This record gives sequence, structure tokens and C-alpha cells, in this order.
Amino acid sequence: MGQDTRFSRAQRDLLDLMDTTVWMPRTADDPPVGAASGSEGGPSSATAERPPARDLAAGRRRQDDSRASNSTPPVAAAPPELEALRTRVAACTACALHSGRRQTVFGVGNPRADWMFVGEGPGEEEDRRGEPFVGRAGKLLDAMLRAMNLDRNTVYIANIVKCRPPNNRNPGLDEAAACIPYLKRQIELIAPRLIVALGAVAAQRLLETDRPVGAMRGKLHYAAHLEPPVLVTYHPAYLLRSPGQKGKAWEDLQLAMREMDALQEAGGA
Ligand code: URA
Ligand code: SF4
Repeated sequence: MGQDTRFSRAQRDLLDLMDTTVWMPRTADDPPVGAASGSEGGPSSATAERPPARDLAAGRRRQDDSRASNSTPPVAAAPPELEALRTRVAACTACALHSGRRQTVFGVGNPRADWMFVGEGPGEEEDRRGEPFVGRAGKLLDAMLRAMNLDRNTVYIANIVKCRPPNNRNPGLDEAAACIPYLKRQIELIAPRLIVALGAVAAQRLLETDRPVGAMRGKLHYAAHLEPPVLVTYHPAYLLRSPGQKGKAWEDLQLAMREMDALQEAGGA
């Protein structure tokens, strides 16, 4: 099967937008990314061929309108627990980051999403708007999502810390430790099938490790303290600085799509 039929026109346009050469789809008979790279996280469950182009935007498995289009995705009402958590976070002063914030940045998207994307923390624009990934890196994340037939209303996007670190520095270990219980509760309440950790801070704090992204990407990680498996890939801000790595990130996302297919088939999409 040719890749032209596996990817819609819109997807190919987006891949072009993201980076003409390196975001090309892999062929169906390529080995899965990471297939030969050990099995720290357990064997990959999705080694089958990628099926023909299909709508992977299954962001709302517990609803009848589960195959929402990208243009007007209905957003499910947030469960009261998630709204209560948002309110708690908005008043939080548990770490020093609270003093520099304009507002907390809780998360955005479908509270019943199959996919959760996790970044490190709000930047300037996010702090101003109260929404994650709305700056330059966010534009690239949006393009990555669209290339996967997803968007920010069908997935859920959140960060390790909910308040902006000054001068966009990385959140400290103490700050991440203070904030991550909120993210863990979001994960419990939303119950995504798969988490995509964007960049080192997200991957290391979620998986409680100090290994570099390059050593963790390309496979799923199963952490004892997290229900969903975690796929690690590069942060979009890093990809803006190092566009030569976009090909690897796209391989990671394709692996994530295959894994999601398998998870949805196993669990009932
Ligand atoms: N980078 C992140 O990690 N998170 C955001 O919300 C924005 C930029
Ligand atoms: Fe609270 Fe998290 Fe903000 Fe720290 S970063 S004040 S723990 S919400």
C-alpha cells in the first residue's frame, strides 16, 4: 500500500509544513521504531502494520461521538472532580513558582481523551493566556497533532508544573515534586490510554529517572506508579532549535499511533 493512501491530503500538507523532507511517513514494512532497542518498558504491543489511513482522533472513547472531525470537535464537559482540581490549582501556593505567575495553567482539551501530551511548564504566552502550548512551540505541537489526525480539543495537554518558572528556566526538582500530584490526579481522572512526554523534564519527572530523552524515546515505558504507558519524544521547542531531529520525533509519534490503535482495539475503541 502506498503512503499516499495512508495519509490524507491535509496530513501531507501538514507534514510539508512541519519539515518537507524529514516528516515523511515511514513505509508500512519498516520495523517499528525501537523494535531492536531492548525492552526496558516491556515488549511493544503494536508490531503490526499500520492500517490504511484512518481516523485516529479517538479522543472520547466513552462517548458516542467518538470520531469527531478536526474542524468542529465537540468538547466533553469536564467532570466535577477535574473542575474542583482546577480550582485548587488556581489557588495553590505550594512552591515558589506561585509568586511569579499571572495565572495557573491547568490543562486543555478533552477530559475523556485517549491521548495526553505532557510538557514541562508554562512559558510567557501560556502564563498570559492560561493555556498550555500556545506560543511558538505550541504552534509546532498543533501541527504535530494535526499530522496525527488529532487536535488540542480531542487530546488533553498539560504540564509538569502549572506556574511559569521565571525566565523560562526548567522547573526545579522541588517545584516539580510539589506540583506533580496535580498532574497525577489529572491522569487518574482523565484516564488516557497513552501519555506522550514532550522533552526531558516531562519524561524524567513522569518516569522518575534522569536518563536523557535520546535514551528513552522510541518505545513505550510502563511505570509502576502510572496506569497509562508513556511514550517519550522531543519537546517541540527543542525541535524548533534542532529541526534535524524532527524525523525522529515523527517516528516516535508514528509508533504512538500504532500503539494507540492496538490499545483501542484491545480495550474497545
Ligand atoms: N512548553 C511547555 O513545556 N509547556 C507549555 O505549556 C509551553 C511551552
Ligand atoms: Fe502550586 Fe504547582 Fe504552582 Fe507550585 S507550580 S505553586 S505546586 S500549582
